[in-house]
Amino acid sequence: MDQYLPEKVNINGEQFRIYLTQEEIQQRLKALGDQISLDYKDKKPIFIGVLNGAFVFLSDLMRYVTIPCEVDFLKLSSYGDEKVSSGNVTDLKNIDANIKGRHVILVEDIVDTGLSMNYLFKKLKQFGPASLSAATLLHKTEATHHEVELKYVGFKIANLFVLGYGLDYAQEGRNLGQIYILEE
Ligand code: IMP
Repeated sequence: MDQYLPEKVNINGEQFRIYLTQEEIQQRLKALGDQISLDYKDKKPIFIGVLNGAFVFLSDLMRYVTIPCEVDFLKLSSYGDEKVSSGNVTDLKNIDANIKGRHVILVEDIVDTGLSMNYLFKKLKQFGPASLSAATLLHKTEATHHEVELKYVGFKIANLFVLGYGLDYAQEGRNLGQIYILEE
């Protein structure tokens, strides 16, 4: 399948270059999928994807998971069109699934300050899951100052703005098949 994999991307006058290739991402996802399949054997986990950004990552990750599993989504307020977090989180869409007694894996595209993940952990724990863990494709380790427990991390990355593979800048770039980083 031909994917959208340009060398450079320009959005709103900002230039981005390739940071993680399609191959690197898929290899890592395969390893994560194998690990999750082992860790959750006979537990039928339910993945909860955080919209909009996590939909591409989750859709690929799930297909490397070789045990029965389910999926649902929730949505938080986004960055708007900015490159820095507003520092507020509000719910835009809640989960439909009943997760009481279930093994839940929360799936984010990227953990930056950790605010969203920290908020979602507290929120989902209130529903009484049997277990709750988190997976993120990217983790900006230096930027994270809220307490987060990340069981599955695709890549630890620098504290720079990235896009592609589900991540956007002003809603653009989600269809890129790999991850791009802002040129300094
Ligand atoms: P946090 O709550 O500060 O950890 O931010 C998490 C959310 O911010 C992610 O789910 C993304 O939607 C967004 N975000 C953080 N960093 C980036 C980035 O570099 N590119 C695109 N979106 C980002």
